[in-house]
Amino acid sequence: MANEKSTSHKKEFNAYPSTSIRSKFFPISVLIFIISIIIYRLLTVGPFAPLQCRFLGIGCLDPKVHGYVAPEFIDVKKIFTSHFENGGEVGSSVAAYYNGKLVVDLHGGYADLETMREYNKDTLQLVFSSTKVMTSIMIAYLVDRGLLSYDEKISKYWPEFAQGNKENVTLLDLVNHRAGVTYLDTQVTKSELEDLDQLAKILAAQPHVFDGVPLRAYHAATRGWYLNEIVRRVDPKRRTIGQIVSEEILKQYDLEFYLLLPQSLWSRMSPLGDNRSWSVLKEIVNVVKKLKKEQSESSFSKNQ
Ligand SMILES: *[C@@H]1O[C@H](CO)[C@@H](O)[C@H](O)[C@H]1NC(C)=O
Ligand SMILES: *[C@@H]1O[C@H](CO)[C@@H](O)[C@H](O)[C@H]1NC(C)=O
Repeated sequence: MANEKSTSHKKEFNAYPSTSIRSKFFPISVLIFIISIIIYRLLTVGPFAPLQCRFLGIGCLDPKVHGYVAPEFIDVKKIFTSHFENGGEVGSSVAAYYNGKLVVDLHGGYADLETMREYNKDTLQLVFSSTKVMTSIMIAYLVDRGLLSYDEKISKYWPEFAQGNKENVTLLDLVNHRAGVTYLDTQVTKSELEDLDQLAKILAAQPHVFDGVPLRAYHAATRGWYLNEIVRRVDPKRRTIGQIVSEEILKQYDLEFYLLLPQSLWSRMSPLGDNRSWSVLKEIVNVVKKLKKEQSESSFSKNQ
């Protein structure tokens, strides 16, 4: 009796769908299976792996990591290496000091995916807003030498700056993104950017975007332009921040950091991969637009 029951169950369970239903569902289940694998790979394999690697797991890169790591920091090397293996990174370097001792000094992956040039210890890396750290160090250096003071109004060094409600803005405001020159109302052209005297006129003419109120808002691109003009005016040799960095700081500390990379060194630079310069540019434009919108909204609500 029990046996009979189980066989009948088995029969029901094993009952094949009719051929017409099977042929209808067979390709769909295969499709779902393939799509799931692709989705899984897209979620787990980073954007920098070649397409055939991302979709099919073939032709994946075999990036190498070189350099030094102290035995107790070996996990750093493992994680660093995994970023290249899973396509989350193209190439990079990392160094860390612990208790004053260099414990991690690694580099790996590719400097340029197009030519498969490896990322080595001499590769030069674009650092975008980390340049703000260097400009801040330069300002501190000039404050130390008595050429600048954080509490001083910018108009003391640059009288034309005192236009459009900017007369009370201090150097500290600018360093802290509170100078109200978050963006420029006029679009700056490449030739204007290259002619610093011309650029200075545009910067000075820009009105305070918060009507003189020191609200904090990220000065993404403008912070460096304004600081550079101030530095040009107080440096006895009228140098730019980039010139002072290369003539004084770099020689003194044997460091490499360029605010304008000499053409002779371009071959050491790691370019933006996958022609992403275009998408990065678009991204920057979008961020600036968004900031502008948010600020006009916040100044609007402030005025309410
Ligand atoms: C600048 O400071 C002076 C003196 O405190 C004040 O009268 C003036 O309104 C300030 N300007 C702006 C734009 O806030
Ligand atoms: C990158 O893409 C943009 C837009 O598609 C194009 O105008 C530009 O020439 C490309 N640059 C390179 C180096 O391929």
